[in-house]
Amino acid sequence: MRIWLLFVFCLFVGVRGEDFPSLITANASIAVVLDRQFLGDRYQTLLDGVKDYIKELARVELKHGGVVVHYYSWTAISLKKGFLAVFSVASCEDTWSLYSRTEEEELLLFALTEVDCPRLPTDSAITVTYVDPGEELPQIILDMRTSKAFKWKSAVILHDDTLSRDMVSRVVQSLTSQVDSGTATSPVSVSVYKMKHEINEYLRRKEIHRVLSRLPVKYIGENFLAIVTTEVMTTLSEIARDLLMSHTLAQWLYVISDMDMQHGNLSSHINTLYEGENVAFIYNITDTSPDCKNGIMCYCEEMMSAFVSALDAAVQEEFEVAAQVSDEEWEVIRPSKLQRRSMLLKHMQQYIAAKSICGNCSTWQALAADTWGATYRGYSETEPVLQDTGPSANVTTGVIEHIELLQVGFWRPIDAIRYEDVLFPHVEHGFRGKDLPVITYHNPPWTILQANESGSVVSYKGLIFDIINQLAKNKNFTIKILLPSKLQRLISNQTSEDMSHSRDAMVTLAAVAKGQVALGVAAFSILPDPPPGINYTTAVSSQPYCFIIARPRELSRALLFLLPFTTDTWLCLGLGVILMGPTLYIVHRLSPYYEAKEITRQGGLATIHNCLWYVYGALLQQGGMYLPRADSGRLVVGTWWLVVLVVVTTYSGNLVAFLTFPKQEVPVTQVAELIENHHTYTWAIQKGSYLEMELKNSDEPKYATLLKEAELSSSSDGMEGHLSTLQKQLERVREQRHALFDWKLRLSYLMSVDHLVTDTCDFSLSTDEFMEERLAMVVPAGSPYLPVINKEINRMQKAGLISKWLHAYLPKRNRCWKTSSISQEVNNHTVNLSDMQGSFFVLFLSIHKCRRDMIKTEI
Ligand SMILES: *[C@@H]1O[C@H](CO)[C@@H](O)[C@H](O)[C@H]1NC(C)=O
Ligand SMILES: *[C@@H]1O[C@H](CO)[C@@H](O)[C@H](O)[C@H]1NC(C)=O
Ligand SMILES: *[C@@H]1O[C@H](CO)[C@@H](O)[C@H](O)[C@H]1NC(C)=O
Ligand SMILES: *[C@@H]1O[C@H](CO)[C@@H](O)[C@H](O)[C@H]1NC(C)=O
Ligand SMILES: *[C@@H]1O[C@H](CO)[C@@H](O)[C@H](O)[C@H]1NC(C)=O
Ligand SMILES: *[C@@H]1O[C@H](CO)[C@@H](O)[C@H](O)[C@H]1NC(C)=O
Ligand SMILES: *[C@@H]1O[C@H](CO)[C@@H](O)[C@H](O)[C@H]1NC(C)=O
Ligand SMILES: *[C@@H]1O[C@H](CO)[C@@H](O)[C@H](O)[C@H]1NC(C)=O
Ligand SMILES: *[C@@H]1O[C@H](CO)[C@@H](O)[C@H](O)[C@H]1NC(C)=O
Ligand SMILES: *[C@@H]1O[C@H](CO)[C@@H](O)[C@H](O)[C@H]1NC(C)=O
Ligand SMILES: *[C@@H]1O[C@H](CO)[C@@H](O)[C@H](O)[C@H]1NC(C)=O
Repeated sequence: MRIWLLFVFCLFVGVRGEDFPSLITANASIAVVLDRQFLGDRYQTLLDGVKDYIKELARVELKHGGVVVHYYSWTAISLKKGFLAVFSVASCEDTWSLYSRTEEEELLLFALTEVDCPRLPTDSAITVTYVDPGEELPQIILDMRTSKAFKWKSAVILHDDTLSRDMVSRVVQSLTSQVDSGTATSPVSVSVYKMKHEINEYLRRKEIHRVLSRLPVKYIGENFLAIVTTEVMTTLSEIARDLLMSHTLAQWLYVISDMDMQHGNLSSHINTLYEGENVAFIYNITDTSPDCKNGIMCYCEEMMSAFVSALDAAVQEEFEVAAQVSDEEWEVIRPSKLQRRSMLLKHMQQYIAAKSICGNCSTWQALAADTWGATYRGYSETEPVLQDTGPSANVTTGVIEHIELLQVGFWRPIDAIRYEDVLFPHVEHGFRGKDLPVITYHNPPWTILQANESGSVVSYKGLIFDIINQLAKNKNFTIKILLPSKLQRLISNQTSEDMSHSRDAMVTLAAVAKGQVALGVAAFSILPDPPPGINYTTAVSSQPYCFIIARPRELSRALLFLLPFTTDTWLCLGLGVILMGPTLYIVHRLSPYYEAKEITRQGGLATIHNCLWYVYGALLQQGGMYLPRADSGRLVVGTWWLVVLVVVTTYSGNLVAFLTFPKQEVPVTQVAELIENHHTYTWAIQKGSYLEMELKNSDEPKYATLLKEAELSSSSDGMEGHLSTLQKQLERVREQRHALFDWKLRLSYLMSVDHLVTDTCDFSLSTDEFMEERLAMVVPAGSPYLPVINKEINRMQKAGLISKWLHAYLPKRNRCWKTSSISQEVNNHTVNLSDMQGSFFVLFLSIHKCRRDMIKTEI
């Protein structure tokens, strides 16, 4: 069995082995392509040089195996010869077309090419762009773009005279060209603006101001690439700040051309940075010392060295592994073509990164400013805010005292930019995990603070905290919570016994206004004229007002038996009975029938009194004992019976319906209805509430009336105090015709509490919702992070997160949410005494009457 399996393996591996020989069995072969057209005059010397170098290299460096080198003078070569790798020196276009073919064959390509060429994907090839010193700028920008150092859709290039026209067009080209590398970088749309170079400081300022103030940033975007000298950079950044163009959503990349190793200390030129800016710098630290090596030959030698070193390591490794296992096993585990390629590639890259000296002098350095949350850095220590009576002026102005520049990386011609960090750290990583001080207080359901027995707050919950936690996650910061009770001493020197909510709110607002915290984590109503020194964020929630009244009650059923007919029907019916009696009597009386037949008029119909009783009896379906004998009389009686039939059927049918469907009071569900019923209803509005203010400001006569007729009730401070006040008023709503105005949220909370306590559904909310009160967090006025926070809140809102979170804090639906409980009873109503009391009442009346009659007759 095992032998069979092995055999199958050998077959399989054997086929594979023919595809590409292992490094043990055959010497590696590589293709060296030196494009004659591209190199021109340099071709022959380069070819000779490379040949000699490789020979020497193979002899000295390659300790295991050997290497077979094939030379070509054009790129259109056949790659089917089992090469291990291809080395090419060719134009950009030829290099890319060669790459597409080596990729098909899964070969390693290391290429030396001209400047302004997008590099081949780093996971399958090595590209070196040969640059003459001073020409490297467009290549750097191209490299940054293809390595996604910035992800811009549009860019504004600002440059001064230091950049020649030719260079400008090359820079533009490097941003706008279509790059079909694996990274799929889409072209950037570019607008170019030139600033005249002025030596005079004043004129320079004027010129820069002129250019910047005219930029239509709305259309051209806010990603700036400023290619300037150090002096201009300093002025430019100042003016950009003055014009509010350097903010959290804008990105500024300064390319500084006149720096070099000798005067190279950028930090000394960056005097001021402001909180919330996105600024990065890339500058020339090229060393011009004479022992700097450069030139095509140097790169060729270095790349071949790297390859040979990688090959040597690969061969050695394969030998080592092969020595430990049997031949069959080796065939199974030996690296595939792709594995070998990536191994070689990695080794070469490491070799180049560590040992490359060609063009090592033309180096550029990239730095990024760490600005977000920098002024709050000191706050992470034990609440230094509390020691300071005034806010430190620099927090509010946003000037960063201790400027910190992050090392982003170095650019070299041979391996592009080696990143140590991202170019725009705040665009990528938000606040980079900094601590931001925030202030909060207990105000459910927005912020819920829970303290343990010893009084220290142990948990922070509530809608606002859900939002802030998500915000902190998205923007990569941690919150450091301050409580107003601790800050109290500082803001106002009153004794801290008055720990009420509104004081907390005031302290919070004051702390935010003074810029002591980055954010007020609490829900504040958005007022049309906000307190000074703060800005509201986007509303996180909006609370409509509505009113609560007692649930419409069932009407008394005492007179149920009268309900089937309206009053005028009853009147007509009575009138009918009263009229029919005499009519019957007259017809009966005047009929000549009895005289003609000489029959005595028998029975009761002879008197008008009896006729009335007869008609009444017929109405109750008690047929009289005697019928008139004359047709005329019978006609009258018969007609009456018909009427009775209709009336009685209608009555009993309706009676059933009225028994089944209890009749309700007319509900008052809208403000307009409430105002209409202002004689029967009273209503209350919290004094000093947002509603009162809005009603005052409103032009609608409806609301003016509403406010005029309202009783203004003052409530204790705080959500909880407020609720307890409301609870007291609720009794009045239950007992009387009284309406209470407040947030729908609070009222439904009250309703559900009441339902839990009493297990009844005595209240109902109006269907009208009006005067939405919008709630938001607060930031210090002019905080750079307001747009960032707003953007995040909007995203959360669109994703439905906020309403989902809020839902968790709302009272759960209970049976009172059903608009009416009638449906339950419809099928199951048993007639009880209260339904029947009316009939008994009538009975009682008649008995009473009879008794009096009897007494009278006795007398
Ligand atoms: C590999 O190259 C070495 C030195 O160049 C040579 O001695 C050896 O014979 C070659 N081996 C094969 C299998 O071609
Ligand atoms: C970079 O600095 C070197 C040395 O000062 C200079 O020769 C070269 O022109 C500079 N590069 C650019 C693009 O200005
Ligand atoms: C650059 O200057 C800053 C102070 O301005 C100094 O702290 C830093 O060490 C200097 N760096 C170099 C490389 O000279
Ligand atoms: C090449 O330059 C980089 C940065 O400029 C430096 O870190 C590295 O040591 C240099 N390499 C050599 C071999 O000189
Ligand atoms: C604010 O920053 C300036 C420098 O910009 C510094 O001179 C001043 O001392 C700082 N003020 C405070 C209160 O830290
Ligand atoms: C947060 O910032 C740290 C520090 O810069 C960074 O390492 C991390 O990747 C960032 N996290 C996110 C999710 O951006
Ligand atoms: C309350 O919490 C504080 C801080 O977490 C802790 O030091 C204290 O021991 C806790 N007290 C009790 C009674 O759990
Ligand atoms: C603030 O209150 C403390 C003690 O409560 C008192 O010592 C101090 O003088 C007060 N400061 C002011 C400015 O009133
Ligand atoms: C922030 O507040 C200031 C002053 O209160 C106001 O002038 C400014 O327009 C507000 N900014 C925003 C974005 O609302
Ligand atoms: C109908 O009445 C019976 C007895 O009173 C009761 O058990 C049942 O739950 C009622 N059904 C409904 C739908 O109310
Ligand atoms: C009669 O039934 C109605 C509805 O089912 C109920 O509200 C009322 O309390 C009952 N009355 C008596 C006396 O049982």
